[in-house]
Amino acid sequence: MTPRLLIRDLAQVATPGTAAPPLRGSGLGAVEVVEDAYILCDDGLIAEVGTMRDLGTLDGEVVELDGHGRAAIPGLVDCHTHPAFAGDRVGEFALRAAGASYEELHAAGGGILSTVRATRAASEADLTAATFRHRGWMRAHGTTTFEGKSGYGLDRETELAQLRAVAAAGGVPTWLGAHTVPPEFDDPDAYLDYELAEVLPAAAELAEAADVFLERGSFDAAQARRYLSACAAAGLALRLHGDQFTESGAIPLAIELGARSVDHLEATGTEGVRALAASDVVGVLLPASALFLDRPMPPARALADAGAAVALATDFNPGSAFCDSLPLVCSLACTQLHLSPAEALTACTVNAAHVLGRANRIGKLAPGYAADIVLLDATDWRYLAYHLAGDVVHTVVENGALAWTRGA
Ligand code: NIG
Ligand code: FE
Repeated sequence: MTPRLLIRDLAQVATPGTAAPPLRGSGLGAVEVVEDAYILCDDGLIAEVGTMRDLGTLDGEVVELDGHGRAAIPGLVDCHTHPAFAGDRVGEFALRAAGASYEELHAAGGGILSTVRATRAASEADLTAATFRHRGWMRAHGTTTFEGKSGYGLDRETELAQLRAVAAAGGVPTWLGAHTVPPEFDDPDAYLDYELAEVLPAAAELAEAADVFLERGSFDAAQARRYLSACAAAGLALRLHGDQFTESGAIPLAIELGARSVDHLEATGTEGVRALAASDVVGVLLPASALFLDRPMPPARALADAGAAVALATDFNPGSAFCDSLPLVCSLACTQLHLSPAEALTACTVNAAHVLGRANRIGKLAPGYAADIVLLDATDWRYLAYHLAGDVVHTVVENGALAWTRGA
């Protein structure tokens, strides 16, 4: 059994509030802060959080970590990434800088399909190594739990290899079998027939959730309903990429099917905001994607004010968001989405954990939760969002063990 870990003399411990997840309304911004604090971890879990003056004598073996000058927050939870890919899209990035749009590149057979070509050509060992590499980048920005989607195979062998790569790297696998239609099919419904008959049975064994890109040029609402309904019947939780470029019915469909989340929402209007806020579906906001594609930001403030449960994620992928940093996403949340630092912290910890079905285990610094802890290189936890693209993460603890330290 690993010895207990005592993180002592922390300037602050900051954790989302105690209301039942997903947090919404005033609960979204209800972060609790303990000053001059300690955290005691035992057997991979948090055993105690308290103030230094209440710290009693600890018998037996205890490893100590000095928290002087640092604020502790829960390990960050990235609930939407696409990390299992080969190749890059740096050439398309340059074309977009010169004026080409993401949708034009997609329609011309580039975009997602260019990553599909590279990913199909890679071995499973290559995809696993790439996912580990990307996971390392995320960890250095404080991510202790990540979800990872397939969707760059669009054939049985490569989709399953992507799901295994995500699991091998410690991620939570989501089957994005309905990302777009690959070139060997000219009809989305024929492609879905193949996916549901040939891939779903094995994907359902590997993945926890299914996801679909509901958008012009990929799948419409009827096709998304067919795909997601079959996935739900196979035991998978449901997610949707929706309202990224056009409002195409993703929110009503997510509510109808009881999906965990609908993600993107850059094109969501007033009625969508109202409907999502009245539902149990979490709106996952991806401001790094909107920034990277020079698209409008999602209506985050309106969603939060209407009482919607929102989460934040990077959308890490080679095309629309080559960004692995949740602290940067928190900065964008405060400056572009007009969320408070407290709302941003809740959105990428406990609410993101809820999207992954883990809100009773991760996302809070409280007894019984996993000892996934980030120490910031600052005495005020709000530096998480304040230090724009700064090296704000100093130490990452996962399951009560040191996982990463800056400069080590
Ligand atoms: O969430 N929009 C669809 N899917 C991804 C991007 C995938 C890609 O461009 O490779 C997204 O933005
Ligand atoms: Fe995505």
